[in-house]
Amino acid sequence: MAEYSAGKLDELPAGSRRIIKTDRGEIGVFNINGRFYALPNRCPHQGGPLCAGKVGGTLLATAESNWEPRWVQEGEVIACPWHGMEFNITTGQCVGRRRVRIRQFPVRVVDGEVWVIL
Ligand code: FES
Repeated sequence: MAEYSAGKLDELPAGSRRIIKTDRGEIGVFNINGRFYALPNRCPHQGGPLCAGKVGGTLLATAESNWEPRWVQEGEVIACPWHGMEFNITTGQCVGRRRVRIRQFPVRVVDGEVWVIL
């Protein structure tokens, strides 16, 4: 197990992200509404730099919405900059593809510093 600093807590306000280098490749660290999430900066589709993508929401049509698309998960979804696959940062789940999920790494805050645990 190894821990990597993502920086000081006050350098990562809500809505921000930082990409750090580790022995296992680049990791994207995101502050979503005050909670931290860490994901590999490698898209499962063709290896694109997923964590450099645009963060926003997504359109979702479900039986509950009578199959009318609704904008949901604002601020929680990242779109890969290469081909646009979307993933929920808080769960790792691919939007629209149930079987695809990206790995998530634990994050902890100790004495005002954000650490990713690999
Ligand atoms: S490499 Fe990410 S969607 Fe294709």
